[in-house]
This record gives sequence, structure tokens and C-alpha cells, in this order.
Amino acid sequence: MKIAVLPGDGIGPEIVAQAVKVLRALGGAGAQLELSEAPVGGAGYDAAGDPLPDATLALARAADAVLFGSVGGWQYDQLPRAKRPEQALLRLRKELGLFANLRPAILYPELASASTLRPEVVSGMDILILRELTGDIYFGQPRGVRTTAGGEREGYDTMRYTETEIRRIAHAGFRAARRRARRLCSVDKANVLETSQLWREVVTAVGSEYPDVELSHMYVDNAAMQLLRAPKQFDVIVTGNMFGDILSDEASMLTGSIGMLPSASLDERGKGLYEPIHGSAPDIAGKDVANPLATILSAAMMLRYSLDQDVAATRIEAAVRKVLGQGLRTADIHSPGTTRVGTGAMGDAVVAALG
Ligand code: IPM
Ligand code: MG
Repeated sequence: MKIAVLPGDGIGPEIVAQAVKVLRALGGAGAQLELSEAPVGGAGYDAAGDPLPDATLALARAADAVLFGSVGGWQYDQLPRAKRPEQALLRLRKELGLFANLRPAILYPELASASTLRPEVVSGMDILILRELTGDIYFGQPRGVRTTAGGEREGYDTMRYTETEIRRIAHAGFRAARRRARRLCSVDKANVLETSQLWREVVTAVGSEYPDVELSHMYVDNAAMQLLRAPKQFDVIVTGNMFGDILSDEASMLTGSIGMLPSASLDERGKGLYEPIHGSAPDIAGKDVANPLATILSAAMMLRYSLDQDVAATRIEAAVRKVLGQGLRTADIHSPGTTRVGTGAMGDAVVAALG
């Protein structure tokens, strides 16, 4: 099995190093992984003048799965849009056809006090946000900045979804719900947007093939509110690229730490890119304080979804629970009575807990 390892910028390299350490410590399953590293994002720009150098894209294409850190940094903020680090991620998603983005928001009981919501509101919360990742206003043409007849500049983007794209993500949503509590909530803005009206119609039609899954629909503004009011009402949420971007950040914070949440972006055959949901956090890069658990849990998702190594994935997840149970915490999830550890020590602790 070939894994492309793309650490990226900011805290990316140090957190990815911990996930690699854990993969290597797995023995059996882990020993068969062939890991190759390449620069991406700002690091790609520095190395080759392109956030997604050709060699990096080629490596990602040839791999069975991609383990991704994070991209971005203040030193790249002034670059033209095509050269910005985020473009690497957007292009990888598009070029590899990674249309299904799974973003679980699970509350670990040990971290219930880290949430800004009351423990009784969030305890037991287990939501899966399924975000469509290769369409919508993120990629819709036309887009640009033009000059109007009146002589002023006007920016514009286009929200669009084809039936095929909606159907594909809807099926992924129903299948995901079948593996869980069999409830799927489709989030849109059908009271205002044509795109959303079509979305709702197509998701409803696909739903007739899954009579065992309870389908509901919710407007995105209401969904944003319901996530804070009563998050446990949700099992799987399926939504478009833009709404999913926003709602998944919101949902991640319900769990208390964005530093805990992994994600998977899958293509039609199960090949995937795995990354923590958080960003590159340049302010804490290189200080050995970043939380590597989201990346370690992303490596577990990689084993489960792309490499068919369910046992190894479960071992990693159990090891993470164990270190939390031991009271070890990085700065972002630290609270009185727990033991604060650095990035490297947290990685070592997970290795030791693998059993
Ligand atoms: C995410 C990020 C990206 C997105 C950015 C970095 C382009 O916010 O993965 O959620 O908007 O999709
Ligand atoms: Mg985002």
C-alpha cells in the first residue's frame, strides 16, 4: 500500500510526524505501508513555485491514500489566488475526485468539560457531517471580478450542482446513515436558492431507495441554530460544499477542541485524502504544543476507509481514548487536574498505548 504523506505548513509537519510514528509502530499492518513525502501548500510554493507541484500531484495520484497535514501561513497571504496554499487542497480534491468529505464530530466523555456548551447538551454527541467537496460555489463557473456598465467593480461566483453530483453525495449520505443510527438530515436553503430546490428534490428521490433510513430536510440557518440548541438530534448531516464548510467548523467546536477531529475525503472507489479538520496554526508552529490527535485519528480513518485495516484503525482509536483516560492533554484541551504534554510526548503516549 502506497501512502503519499503531505505535511504542508505551520504545525503540519510536527503533527504528521506523530501520525507517521503511530503508523510505523503498528507492526504487521503498518509495516506494509510504503510512505513517501512531498511538499504541498506554502512548502510546495517555496520548493517549486506552485502550491501543488506536479511531482506532489503525481505522488498523490499514484498513492492508495494521502495523509495530509495543513496548509497556509501569513507569509503567503499576499500571493495571487492561484499561488495561495489553499489552492493545493482545492486542486487535490478536484483532481482526485474526492467528492465525499466525512467530518465526524464526536464528544469524548473525558473532554466534556472542554465544550463551551453545557455537558448535558453535548454528552454522547456523535454527528457525522457529510460535505460535498468538489462542486457548489467553490468551483462553479463563471466567477471573477468584472467592471459593470456603471464603471464599478463587481465580484461574482456561481453556485451550481448537477443532478449527478447531488445523487452521488445523497447515496453516500444514505449509506453512511445505514452504518449508524439510520437518520439523515439534508441541509439546504431551498426557500431561497434554485440550486437548493433541485438538491432537495433529488435527495428526496434518492431517499425512496433507502426506506430504512429516516430522511429529514432543514434550512441551513436553522441547522446552524439547532447544532447549538440540541446537537444530539443529528445523526448524519448531508450538505453542499459551502454550507458544509461552515457547519463542520461549528460542529467541531461543540466537541471542545478542533484539535481532536479527523476527516476523510473519498472518491468513488474509496481512495481518500485524510487530514485533521483544523488549520496550520502558524502562531504555534514549531513550539511542540500542537495537538497531534486529529492527525493520528485521521491516520486511523485512512486505515479503515482506504486500506481495509479495520483492526489497526480500532487499535489507534482505542489508544487515543486510553491516553485521554490517563489524563494526558495538549494545551488546547488542558484543564485543571490533567497532565499537560507536548506534541511529541502525546505521539509517544499513543504509541505506548497501542498495546
Ligand atoms: C476546509 C477549509 C478549506 C475549505 C480551505 C482551506 C480552502 O476551510 O477544509 O474546511 O474551505 O474547504
Ligand atoms: Mg473550513
